[in-house]
Amino acid sequence: MNTLVLKYNGENDVIAKAASVLKKGGLVAFPTETVYGLGANGLDPDAASKIYAAKGRPVDNPLILHIASFGDLESVVSEIPEKAEKLAQAFWPGPLTLVLKKHSRVPDAVTCGLPAAAVRFPKNPVAAKLIRAAGFPLAAPSANSSGKPSPTKASHVAFDLSGKIDMIVDGGTCSLGIESTIIDASKNVLRLLRPGAVTLEDIEREVGRIEAGASVETAGFETAPEAPGMKYKHYSPLASVTVVSGDQKKTVAEIVKRVKLSGKKTGVLTTDATARFYETTPTLVMSLGSGANDAAKNLFATLRRLDFYGVEEVYAEALEETGIGLAVMNRLKKAAANNIVYV
Ligand code: TXA
Ligand code: MG
Repeated sequence: MNTLVLKYNGENDVIAKAASVLKKGGLVAFPTETVYGLGANGLDPDAASKIYAAKGRPVDNPLILHIASFGDLESVVSEIPEKAEKLAQAFWPGPLTLVLKKHSRVPDAVTCGLPAAAVRFPKNPVAAKLIRAAGFPLAAPSANSSGKPSPTKASHVAFDLSGKIDMIVDGGTCSLGIESTIIDASKNVLRLLRPGAVTLEDIEREVGRIEAGASVETAGFETAPEAPGMKYKHYSPLASVTVVSGDQKKTVAEIVKRVKLSGKKTGVLTTDATARFYETTPTLVMSLGSGANDAAKNLFATLRRLDFYGVEEVYAEALEETGIGLAVMNRLKKAAANNIVYV
């Protein structure tokens, strides 16, 4: 199949074309403020099923439904508990996904047979326009090949999925760069299933203490995950990744030592504050920027660049696990298959 790539510069015909592809049951990748999504009609089981084949996605990993108004929520869920309502009011539209008891209209192809559906109301105006033009919620996972870093630019989507999907709407670089925060609100106690740009601190300010899902604490390896997707090794570049955590001076010394001993093509993931400490070591130094927000925005694109340069071993400085740093570290630990050295 030929994949049509159209840049969105405010022309409504690009949205109209994408909506017509979706109405025919096709697959369209589109930008959101987090990462690009691979959309299909979320109420049509045949359309939604095509997503799994295009991504090579395990068939037990359910899809998020994307809506474009508060009214849309009632059409896809059967119950909205008070705390979920509060979170929706506080953070929608935005990078928050709520797992709620599903409406019978939502097909099993979207939830993989689970009684609850994950719902998100994105803020990106291209996403909002597309959902409205389609006239139905869009089932959309991240628009990467399964196992690759999530796409934050249209070119990442094209690299992974050209020839496998109908269309890509190029709406530029995603502003946040890391996938939405997922909260399970379908049971008595709220649970954080995946950290994101809406931070745990933000959430607890609204609804008090919540539980952290096991998949968050372990980055999805040892225990049965509650967001099924968290159990897969995600975001992995071809290189093996080691995260080094601890005091800044010791971290730099440990990484410099490992780079020198390596004998392989190495890369270092750092921040602006420490990048200059690696100038003398023979390695590709890539800064994620000046803080946790920058790191979120740049992490996935940087992991893809490391592959592009053929790096075999990556050493990454750990970030502090507060605020959005919790989300960045969650993704970095997954990229590293939980390979962390404490110094
Ligand atoms: O920011 C985002 O959330 C992006 C953009 C495109 O919206 N989407 C995204 O989708 O990251 P995906 O499929 O890559 O990740 C969705 C996660 C998976 O870990 C999946 O297992 C979980 O959400 N999930 C989906 N439906 C669920 C459900 N009913 N119950 C629990 N977890 C669910
Ligand atoms: Mg994904």
